[in-house]
Amino acid sequence: MNFSFEGKVAVVTGGANGQGRAEATLFAQHGAAVAICDVAHEEGEALATELRSRGLQARYFPLDVGVAADWDRVITAVSDWQSRIDILVNNAGILKRKTIADYLEAEWRHVIDINLTGSFLGIQKVAPFMREQRSGSIVNIGSNAAFSGHPDPAYTASKWAVRGLTKSAALELSTFGVRVNCVCPGLVVTDINRNAAHLCTMIGMTPMGRAAEVEDIAAMVAFLSSDGARMITGEEVVIDGGFTAGAAYWKVAMEAGYYGARNVGASA
Ligand SMILES: NC(=O)c1ccc[n+]([C@@H]2O[C@H](COP(=O)([O-])OP(=O)(O)OC[C@H]3O[C@@H](n4cnc5c(N)ncnc54)[C@H](O)[C@@H]3O)[C@@H](O)[C@H]2O)c1
Repeated sequence: MNFSFEGKVAVVTGGANGQGRAEATLFAQHGAAVAICDVAHEEGEALATELRSRGLQARYFPLDVGVAADWDRVITAVSDWQSRIDILVNNAGILKRKTIADYLEAEWRHVIDINLTGSFLGIQKVAPFMREQRSGSIVNIGSNAAFSGHPDPAYTASKWAVRGLTKSAALELSTFGVRVNCVCPGLVVTDINRNAAHLCTMIGMTPMGRAAEVEDIAAMVAFLSSDGARMITGEEVVIDGGFTAGAAYWKVAMEAGYYGARNVGASA
């Protein structure tokens, strides 16, 4: 990948683990100063230390994305450190794997607070810097769950809403040269789902035959944050190996033997 983020400053929420860790690492490897923001303090500090030991620029900032005062503190600290912010990745996210029947109101609000309000606050707090600079890229991490129903209703609702937030923010910030896009991963095996019961079934329904790697997601986040994407805003990119393209039809076609040699289970 041929990105250069020399002289740029990137803020990555949920940057201590999983996809955020890969995104923070990729930005740092390509020259950015990276603010790793998370509630996982040990992992965040360890990643920042590791990146610095490789000669890269990184610092850890404790941040609960659902808390506006945390954002104020972190944005002030980042601008004291680097005096600009070019890239924001609203990556922090949670789910509870509960049904409508089981969700407590406080749990529902917690998911919405982190996944949706956290992204809104990030945009609201960082946008003034980008407006002033007349440039910037914001990438919100949605999900392919934002294109259908998903068994967790709060997660589904929050991720559909992140798509809408992306489009509104893209319109409002476009005249300032600030772009806002949404990356929607499918299955990526990380701490959020490592021991979940559905992994094998989901991989079995993915046309590309595997889960995405964290690097697959980070590469798209970096592209959207790069000059190569300078005309792309308000857009959403699904990275799920064809699952959203039609997993059910694909499975039916496979089992019916329509796709030739790869057709397993097509004996009848
Ligand atoms: N893994 C998947 O299959 C998958 C699929 C689609 C979308 N996503 C989305 O990708 C994003 C990253 O998830 P991941 O797979 O890397 O999961 P992960 O659990 O490995 O990482 C999430 C990170 O967010 C941090 N975090 C949680 N609450 C926070 C808060 N209040 N403030 C700041 N940080 C917080 C966690 O500490 C963790 O470091 C999430 O938005 C998730 O919804 C994941």
